[in-house]
Amino acid sequence: MAGNKTFTMVKPDAVKANNIGPILKMINEAGFRIVAMKYTKLSQERAGQFYEVHKERPFYGELVDFMSSGPIVAAILEKDNAVEDYRKLIGATNPAEAADGTIRKLYATSIGENAVHGADSDENAEREGSFFFSSTEKF
Ligand code: CMP
Repeated sequence: MAGNKTFTMVKPDAVKANNIGPILKMINEAGFRIVAMKYTKLSQERAGQFYEVHKERPFYGELVDFMSSGPIVAAILEKDNAVEDYRKLIGATNPAEAADGTIRKLYATSIGENAVHGADSDENAEREGSFFFSSTEKF
């Protein structure tokens, strides 16, 4: 059965462009409840740990540099079928391929600077949420 939680980050590009508010509005209007939320900045080391699964990819260094370049908003979101529904709301990784009305279509500028992250499985949602939040920070 699909889980009811996912994990997201508003990435440094979207924070810099003042798009935290509009993105959170879209998340709320799509029916997600905020379980946990944090405005923070990843060090290079922490960004590297978070994206460890991509370590062998050619874009890993660029990804780590970008994700530690400025503040981000990390959040755990709750809704039935959360992982799949959230990935639909954010759209394809590459904004050029993202459907109309999706967060990335509206706010992403490139495949690297793509406004938001969304967990790709229930297992990763749990792992990524625990990377940022302790049990006393989830409500
Ligand atoms: P995200 O959903 O955060 O998960 C991994 C990230 O790697 C992805 O979003 C993109 O921002 C980034 N990424 C994926 N492919 C590329 C690529 N070809 N070049 C640069 N960054 C990429």
